[in-house]
Order: sequence, then structure tokens, then C-alpha cells
Amino acid sequence: MNKKNLYGIVAILVVAATVLSACGPKATPTPAASTEVEVFSWWVGPGEADGLAAMVKVFNAQYPNIQFINAAVAGGAGTNAKAVLATRLAANDPPDSWQAHAGQETIANYVAAGQVLPLDDLFKSTGLDKVLPATLLPLISQNGHPYSVPVNIHRSNVLWYNPKVLAAAGVTANPKTDFATLDAFFAVCDQIKAAGKICLSLGAPWTAVHLFENIMIGTIGAQKWSGLWSTPPTTDWAGADVTAGIANFAKALSYTNADASTMTDWQPASKLVSDGDAAFNIMGDWAYGYFANAAPNGLALTPHTDFDWAVAPGTYGVFNFLSDSFVLPVGAKHPDATLDWLTVAASRPGQEAFNPLKGSICARTDCNQALFSEYSQDAAKDWTANVVVGSLFHGVVAAPAWAASITTAVGLFQADTTKTADFQAALVAACKSDGTCK
Ligand code: GAL
Repeated sequence: MNKKNLYGIVAILVVAATVLSACGPKATPTPAASTEVEVFSWWVGPGEADGLAAMVKVFNAQYPNIQFINAAVAGGAGTNAKAVLATRLAANDPPDSWQAHAGQETIANYVAAGQVLPLDDLFKSTGLDKVLPATLLPLISQNGHPYSVPVNIHRSNVLWYNPKVLAAAGVTANPKTDFATLDAFFAVCDQIKAAGKICLSLGAPWTAVHLFENIMIGTIGAQKWSGLWSTPPTTDWAGADVTAGIANFAKALSYTNADASTMTDWQPASKLVSDGDAAFNIMGDWAYGYFANAAPNGLALTPHTDFDWAVAPGTYGVFNFLSDSFVLPVGAKHPDATLDWLTVAASRPGQEAFNPLKGSICARTDCNQALFSEYSQDAAKDWTANVVVGSLFHGVVAAPAWAASITTAVGLFQADTTKTADFQAALVAACKSDGTCK
């Protein structure tokens, strides 16, 4: 071997050693968290936090190298969180993923503003496109591209009640079968009131809008409710149906606790029922998690004895739904970790961990029903058998600005329920300023 060949071999060995040492660290597993994912929601505290914690546990087990940063902001229905999120988005500081309701809240807001990315590849790689209900896919899609990962289906139109309060007031009507009309419900409210109890508990201001949507559906029915939101509306906002819904809403408000506007959130209103101070509360089925989950986030109550449920008065056979979903933002700081989070959110193990504690049913159609409570198993049956309509306050049917105008109008009406014509005029104006009404 001459000197030149020797130099050549040495040079090759040096290069090979350099390449091998560069590959070295990747070949051995690195145990420490290598990146993070910041996930934004409003699931904090009673009835809200347990489901998220269970899904995060699944995530941590599957992705031990990614640190999950819980950026949740307290406040039911996202009243505070959405404001914080808007500020962050305006400052170009998006969390890696955030909670967004399926429907107009996602499409007319985040998608229209170009703040989120399409998820076609993730839907294909996880098979989510094959297991989502037909009702849901269009609500998170634009031009055939999905923009968020739905984790659940919640029901808005649930009447929660305390059977002991009903019995003590001598009520023989069964809420599960005898409240086909709001009048039947109001007749029972008179009995409850005479017995010295609150008939219908109400919480923080947004819960009045939650009540409004369910009283309106209970008055005008599913088809006319959906007609309010079609373009152009096939139900006249200025017409007699809406007037009748407003009259029933005023009547329902007359049976609520006088201190509702001072309540901090939805949980205190639920607690009035479980404490036996009130007979009924109309709230979404996240209340199930609050009633039934273990302490500290739940009240650990016994179904049918300490609390019970029925479909909200006048809405039998109707499923007023909403769905929580998660997005991939434009400019995510950790896009790969976000995709990992979304993969867990899309997965059956993720949804089977989350939903039984959240009070919701899976967005996926293939979850194991045996993991769920009797309440949720009933809800799952109704979801497929009932007429499905979309929630107003929880982002399905109206763009956020439209929903905000209605919320303002409901607040003013709540302060003076004699102003029915003003309220209806404000509803008409809100539809016009959205552009849906001409
Ligand atoms: C809804 C949300 C639910 C639940 C509820 C109360 O808007 O979709 O998951 O958190 O608010 O905060």
C-alpha cells in the first residue's frame, strides 16, 4: 500500500466516524421531553377538568417525549377563554391547538380568518374520515377539507332535576314523559313554587342564552328552529313563532332564581338542584360529569336518587347538539407535536378516556358503549334516532358575531321581560347584520 492509498483510507475512516457520531444520539432513545404542545381550552374545575385529564393521560403514555402544557382558561362555555384566545391570535401568538366548536364557530371564524390549517392527511392517516357521523363532517369542513378534530357530541337540551324536590312538592308528573309541551312544564313549576322552592335554576348570564335556545326549540319545534338559521331563513324572525317562543322564554325566566345574574357560572345553578333548593335546571350534559364524577371535580351523586334527567320540555325526539373540536393553527410553534395531540384526540382510546368523564358521547361512531354511564348510553341512542338540530350558544348554527348580538339582546330582555317587542326587533336586527336576513 503506497502512502497515497493510506491517506485515502484514513480519510474515509474519518468521514465514516464523523457520520456515525452524528447518527449516534438518534440511535439511542432520549428520555427527556424533547418538545412541548400547548393546548388551550376552558376545561377547568368542576365537571370540566376530569375528561381532559383522562385524555392527557393517554397522550402522555403515547408521547412521553412531548410535554403537555395545559393552557385552559376557566369560565363555562368559553366565555373568558374565547376573549383570551382572540387577544393571542391578534398578537400572532397562537397556542399549538385550541378548543373550537364544530359549526359556524369554526367555519365562519377561524377558517374564514385563515387561522387554521386543513387536516386532510390526519383524517386519512387516522381513519377519522371513516368513523365520523355524517351530521358532523360538513360542520368542520370547507370545500371538502376538514379543519378540526371533533372529540365529542354534547347535548344541550337536557332537563336535570331533583326527584326528592318533586316528590316533596307532590308532583306526580314524570318529566321523562309528561313534558311534551312547555305548558305542562309550567303547570308543574306552579306546584314547585307553591311548595316554596325555585322551579328552574339559572346560572351566569350565558346560561340564559342556553335556556333561550331550548325554550325556543321547545316552542317552535326542530324544523322551524333550523329554519331560523338557513340562508335565507325559512322561519321568520319577525313572525308569530318567534313571538310565541319569546313569551315562553319570559314565562320560564319568571320561575328562575332572582340572583341568577350574580352567579359565577353554570355549576352553582346545577348545585341548587342537587342541594334541593331548586327542582329543575336546563343545561348541557357536561352537568352529568359534575353530578356523577368523584370529588374534587364531581359531586359523586347517585343517578335517579340524588339527581335525574329528561329531555327538555317540548323537545322530546329532538337532539340539540354541539361538538368540541381541536384545530391546527397557522404558525403553530410545535406543529409536529400538535399533530400528535390531534392524533390522540381523534383516536378511539383518546375519546373513550375523555367522554365518559365529560358527560358527552364520542364523536367517533365506534366507541365501546360499555364504558359509558346509563345517561350517556341513552344519549348515544337518541343521537342516532332523534331529529338533530344545532346549538346557538355553543357555536353550531350562528357565526360568533351573530351569537354575540343575540346574547346582548337576551341580557337586556332578562333585565326587563315586558319588553318582548324590543327583544324580537333586536333578534331581527341581529339576523340582518349577520347578512343572513335581508
Ligand atoms: C360548552 C363546551 C362544553 C362544556 C360547556 C361548559 O361550550 O362545548 O364542553 O365545557 O361549554 O363549559
